[in-house]
Amino acid sequence: MRFTFMTLFPQLIEGYFQDSILKRAVERELFSYDFCNPRDFSTSRHKKVDDTAAGGGAGMLMNPQPLFDALDTFKDAHIVFTTPVAKPFVQNDAKRLAKKEHIVFVSGRYEGIDERVIEQYADEVFSIGDYVLTGGELASLVMSDAVARNVQGVLGNSESLDVESFETSLLEAPSFTKPANFKNLSTPSEYLKGNHSKIAALKNALSIAKTKYFRPGQLLQYKTRA
Ligand code: ADE
Repeated sequence: MRFTFMTLFPQLIEGYFQDSILKRAVERELFSYDFCNPRDFSTSRHKKVDDTAAGGGAGMLMNPQPLFDALDTFKDAHIVFTTPVAKPFVQNDAKRLAKKEHIVFVSGRYEGIDERVIEQYADEVFSIGDYVLTGGELASLVMSDAVARNVQGVLGNSESLDVESFETSLLEAPSFTKPANFKNLSTPSEYLKGNHSKIAALKNALSIAKTKYFRPGQLLQYKTRA
């Protein structure tokens, strides 16, 4: 699996892969990542990558030429654009994309990207939520992280994927570590007794309660699937 981050600001992304689980996964060659800066493809004298919006409006847009030329160098990759004007990225997308060989995440900057670039090159377009970021780099990082942890071997213990939030449409049950009593706050006693079927039943009930409280729509999905 290879990620290419197409961005004007690679340094915003680079640090994230230099620590912890993802660093180890890169060292173990489970995936690799690289960068492509559209500015390097700009044919203008001053390496210009933005321009004013046709028809007026505030701010600048990323202009098509550098992005067209940059994206032409990735013929076989799966091209993903990040924009708030798109369907939301969800866990199923992360799992599905983890099977691709090469994904190019294109991060927009300024007020966005000339629509012709998206029309011409996007295999998929995602938003990571209903808010507007100053650029797509965080969105690319969020998605690549969620994809990477679904790549075989990236998480040490593959079991940890199965019980996670969204795997069953339910939010994950709360977790506790030691000590069993901390500042007079205790772990649910069932968690400590070691009866695995009782623990599973309690966790399921807690999952349902959490989902009902925080994400009622999600609970409806669970019920219609069950
Ligand atoms: N770029 C700016 N805001 C974004 C969002 N919410 N999701 C994806 N890309 C974005």
